[in-house]
Amino acid sequence: MIKKVATLSIWLLSCVGAISVGFSTKDTFRSLALKKGIETGVAVAVSDLNKEAHINIIKENSSIVVAENCMKWQYIHPAENKWYWKDVDDLVKFAESNEMNVKFHTLFWHNQNPSFLSEKWSREKAIAVMDDHIATIMTRYKGRIKEYDVVNEMFDEDGSLRKTIWLNTIGEDYIEHALIKARECDPKAKLYLNDYSNETMGHPKADAMFNFVKKLKEKGVPIDGVGFQLHIDTAYGFDADRIRKNVKRYADIGVLVSFSEVDVRIPQKNFESHLAKQQKIYRDLLKIAVEEPNVPNFIMWGFTDAQSWVPYTFRGKGHALPYDEKLNPKPFYEEMLKDLKK
Ligand code: G3I
Repeated sequence: MIKKVATLSIWLLSCVGAISVGFSTKDTFRSLALKKGIETGVAVAVSDLNKEAHINIIKENSSIVVAENCMKWQYIHPAENKWYWKDVDDLVKFAESNEMNVKFHTLFWHNQNPSFLSEKWSREKAIAVMDDHIATIMTRYKGRIKEYDVVNEMFDEDGSLRKTIWLNTIGEDYIEHALIKARECDPKAKLYLNDYSNETMGHPKADAMFNFVKKLKEKGVPIDGVGFQLHIDTAYGFDADRIRKNVKRYADIGVLVSFSEVDVRIPQKNFESHLAKQQKIYRDLLKIAVEEPNVPNFIMWGFTDAQSWVPYTFRGKGHALPYDEKLNPKPFYEEMLKDLKK
């Protein structure tokens, strides 16, 4: 725990103009978690910042925020020489004025890309575009964004590297190239590789990611952490012990693990019968995050079921977030608050 608090304050103290994460007098998810040495947060949609009730929930829960969409290429860099900063600027300003840190999601991904990215580019051209994207963003926000998902979802289910535009044009070293460039642009920012289905030790993707990151560390490539997205479905197996073991093996090689996009979906029909399982999963995850010194944060992918990505993606599934559609906090969330008070 002491190590965890140190991780937080070292970054904060070492950044020019860094904000300080204060300890609130009111007991909130945010303040209780900070007392345990862990940041919490939610993914924020652009529209949230126009709604007072949403702003209040974000403030209560977040010492770190991430954009649900507006930092992705499609939005921030829609054409080769065109940038759209307003939404990200607004979120960064909102975070700063509320003493929150910011996670950037994401510099590189196979999804939500603009049409100017081309598989026909030479390696040199692709590297030039990649470097420009990293440098333009990280220079603009230098010292103001604490951590970056440098690459998102780089593995396929079998543990091979996903065939993205970057793999196809640059080759396997595109990830290390991006990490090196990112470190050069903002040496104090924490650099992450983020993925899903990578949390359970023994799963091909989890093991592939660990071995990949271990090799990067051995080669001296700058990498600070991995993100476990943790989009969990109660219908599938959940093994808290193997998740904890996976977190610990990253600690052994000096790598942080962000719980970066947590949500736990259940069936829409007869959902009451799945609530106990959902509650256990949320509480188990929070317990691991609080107890393991190399987990700096626990971030949920939104906060209200009214605007979760889940029902649009998984037919018949939902109820994945801590507040219902009317913004009432759910019992599992109240239990998590109680756990943080213990
Ligand atoms: O921007 C357009 C808008 O102009 C249009 O009117 C509207 C109509 O549907 O669509 C808007 O775009 C949507 C966008 O979210 C913003 O709301 C896209 O259709 C929709 O596909 C997109 O979904 C996002 C999804 O990533 C894309 O893959 C979800 O909101 C977002 O929660 C989700 O987040 C991902 C993480 O980045 C990575 N990990 C998984 C996670 C869940 O899929």
